Order: sequence, then C-alpha cells, then structure tokens
Amino acid sequence: MGKATKDDLFKKIIAHAKEYGFIFQSSEIYDGLSAAYDYGQFGVELKNNIKEYWWKSMVQYHENIVGLDSAIFMHPSTWKASGHLDAFNDPMIDNKDSKKRYRADELIEDHLAKLQGKIDKETKKAAKRFGDNFNEEQFKTTHPRVLKYSGKIQSIKARMIKALENDQLDELKNIIEEENITCPVSGSANWTDVRQFNLMFSTELGSTVDDNNKIYLRPETAQGIFVNYLNVQKSGRMKLPFGIAQIGKAFRNEIVARQFIFRMREFEQMEMQFFVRPGTEMDWFEYWKDERIKWHKTLGIEDKYYQLYKHEKLAHYANAAYDIEFKFPFGFKELEGIHSRTDFDLSAHQKHSGKKLQYYDSENDESYVPYVVETSIGLDRMFLAVLSSAYKEEKLEDDSERIVLNIPPILAPYKAAVFPLTKKDNLPQKAREIMDQLKYQFNCQYEEKDTIGKRYRRHDAIGTPYCITVDHQTLEDNTVTIRERDSMKQDRIPIVKLESIIKKRLSIH
Ligand code: GAP
Repeated sequence: MGKATKDDLFKKIIAHAKEYGFIFQSSEIYDGLSAAYDYGQFGVELKNNIKEYWWKSMVQYHENIVGLDSAIFMHPSTWKASGHLDAFNDPMIDNKDSKKRYRADELIEDHLAKLQGKIDKETKKAAKRFGDNFNEEQFKTTHPRVLKYSGKIQSIKARMIKALENDQLDELKNIIEEENITCPVSGSANWTDVRQFNLMFSTELGSTVDDNNKIYLRPETAQGIFVNYLNVQKSGRMKLPFGIAQIGKAFRNEIVARQFIFRMREFEQMEMQFFVRPGTEMDWFEYWKDERIKWHKTLGIEDKYYQLYKHEKLAHYANAAYDIEFKFPFGFKELEGIHSRTDFDLSAHQKHSGKKLQYYDSENDESYVPYVVETSIGLDRMFLAVLSSAYKEEKLEDDSERIVLNIPPILAPYKAAVFPLTKKDNLPQKAREIMDQLKYQFNCQYEEKDTIGKRYRRHDAIGTPYCITVDHQTLEDNTVTIRERDSMKQDRIPIVKLESIIKKRLSIH
C-alpha cells in the first residue's frame, strides 16, 4: 500500500469512518443533508470517551470548576445582549454563473494561500539548485519575485483585516475584483456584492407564527453559562476564581460548510468559563492556555500536530485570544479557542436583564462584575483530530497490509476484544467467561466469526488496543494470548493479569 498523498488521505479517512461505523452522512437514504452527520456505533463510543476525558479533567480534577447543562433554547434577549444578533455575521458573496455562495474572507484567504504556494515553490526550486549552499532566509529577503509575492500577501492581509474590523463590505469586493479572484466552480469573476449573513438559526416558540415568538438555536453553549453565573455561584457558594463547564450542541448556519465534520451546521462544543477578579485575567489567560495545551499533549498525540496561533483580529467580546491549531489532513486549522472575554458578557446581560450580576469579594470588601477566561473546543473537531492523526496504512513484514487506528487507548471505542480460537471445544464458553469478567470495567467486544487474522484486522481498523485469544491451552492452564494493537506483539499471560494490563494502558499522567 503506497503512502497516501495529502489530498487522498482525507478521502480515505472519510471512507474509513463510514465503512467502520464511525460517521454517517445525516439522512443518507434521502441523499443526505449537507453539513450534518450522524455518529455510528464506534463513533459514539469515541465521542463519549472524548467528552468524559474532557469532563473529568475539567470538573473532577479541578476543585473549583463545576458543571452545567443548560437549555438550547434561550430567551431572545440573550442574543441581543451577547452581540450575536448584531455581530455574529459572515460576509458572503455569490458567483452569478455557478450560483455558489462563498465567504468573502475565505475566498481572499484561499487566494493568499495560492500566493504563499508560489513562494514555497520558488524556494524549493532554489534550494534544489543551490544544494548545501542554500540560505533560505537570505533568499526570501532578496529574491525579487518572492519579495513581490510576500509584499502582496502582507498588503492584502492588512486590507482584509481592516475591512472586516470596520464592516467595509465594498472593500472586500474591491480586493476580490482587483486580485481577479475567480469562482472555483465556474471559473468566472462575475460576483454579486458582499453582504452580511447572520449565522444563527431561528424558529418560533409556541403555535403562532409571529415575529414576537422568534427564538434562536444557540450558536455557542457559553451564553447558557453566563446567564446562570449567579445561580451557580450562589447555590454552590462558589468563591472566585471558579469555573463552569458545559458540553452541548450548538448551531450555526455556516455559509460554506465543508471538510466533513470540521465545519458543520449542528455540532457540539465543550466550553468552560472561568470567572476571575478584574485585573487578574491575563494571568489566568496564560494559565488556561498552558493547561489546555497540557490536556492535548497528555493524550500522546505527537507534538507536530499542534501549533499555537495568537489572534490579530479579535472577536467582539475578547481582549486577547489564542487558537490551538491542529494539523488536519487539509492543513493547520483551529481546534480550540482560549479567549479573555473581559466582563463583556456579564455586563451586557446585567444591562439587558436589569439584574445585578456582581460578586461580593469579602477578602477585598468590594463588589464587581467578574472577568472571564474561556476555553472552547469543538467536540467534533477533536474527534476529527483524533481520527485523522490515528489513521495509518502499514505494510507488514510478510508483505501484507493493514489499516490501523492508533487512537489514544483511553479514547478507543473498545479497550479489548475477546476471541475464542474456534467455535468448538468449549472455547466460546471460556471466552465468554473472560468477557463477563472484563465488560463491567471496560468496553469490550466478543467475536467468534472469521479467522483470527481477520478479527485482528477488524479491531486494528477500529483502534482496539488489545485482542485476547482463548485457545486449547487456556482450558489447561488459564492463560491467554494478548496481542497489542500498535506493535502487534503477542504475549502469553495468565487470565488474572488481564485487568491490570488493560488498566495500565488506559492511565493518563
Ligand atoms: N464560545 C466561543 C466560541 O464559540 P468559536 O471559536 O466560535 O468560539 C469554538 O467556537 C470552537 O467550536 C471552535 O474552536 C471549533 O472547535 C468549534 N466550532 C465552531 N464552529 C464550528 C462548526 N461550524 N463546526 C464544528 N465545530 C465548530
């Protein structure tokens, strides 16, 4: 099996996710619904394990963080106060020939990526020509064509950021026209004007269709936390600093929903709002940035998959922001955001609701609206990060091939699979005994169909860390063969040791 190229690797991962019951297109029998996906039998296990890993590390391991499960429907004033009604927009543009809709800023960013590609190509060519004498830094700062491209990138980027910050939609159109950016489908530059498009889905509450009954599906879980800040603080007698964590669905009518589960219209977030004394927020911002990076690294996914990005253009509620970016098959993209949200949200809810959302700080004898540091990670994106970094095509010593998912064991859908070598000679009964012994502790699967080799391959493909085989010797001396997923190493061990071996592999530090 040749090493998959970057382009077809992603397609293979999507096909694998379907074939092995991780992810299906929503309502597939009706030709699917764009940007909505269902998690199948193995997908739901992996997803639940990611949730549990996050929830435990946030709520169980931090004594000053508690959980919440707030409703998806919220009073419409919530979204006025949060700024989502007025500012949760994306600039969209339509191509009149293909009738395709794009985000204007993404069209420009794709154009910038093409210019960057030209720089990379020139650099590669020069590196080949000059061999060991090549000085990349010097080349990039002196070569006329490279200088032209990088100057262009800088100036377009600056114009785009300014236009986005000042809501200058005409300027975005100017950039698209001046750069002669064309539609990837029709190839034409026949564009409409750029318009703002609000990303919130709306629906009506009750039986009458009336604008007064209009409510929204939450575009982030965070607002459910903000409006409950005082309820939790008072009922839990929480002292600052403290956090509230929540996992739940969020909905955004994304203009361009693409790249599988990376950008969906219905997705799940795992968010935590950490309430702090004003003036201490930058320390906590750094603290949570480090904590969140640690959380990712503890899983054992290689460092090369992660990078940190400091925001230049800040969301309407933030005074500092980092993204933890992940190397997805289509490049580095945002996986998690860490924002210092100041007192923007609590102050806005205080103003719109007329209810005080202050904290009495008895140590300093003062009352104030707390500042907030937020960590927000997309559950589906984390799923894609785990799946795509785990997917490996391997050629084995005997020239056979396998696809294996090196999923961090703590997240794997099944922790072990139990196989009787054959369906005869009381081997299934013995295997069932082992299964019954393990299944209350770990999610395990019993399988007796097909050859052992095929059963190994099936479990490699869904990422099961251990396969346990019961054979005739088991009946004599209560030992089994245990095969480890990544090394494929097989050991003969007493049944009584199984539990501790599996447990050890699942421990995190
Ligand atoms: N409360 C802050 C907030 O919602 P965000 O950057 O808009 O910030 C946070 O979203 C995270 O939610 C992102 O880092 C991403 O992982 C995930 N996310 C956002 N939009 C998404 C979408 N359309 N599909 C899947 N995940 C999404």
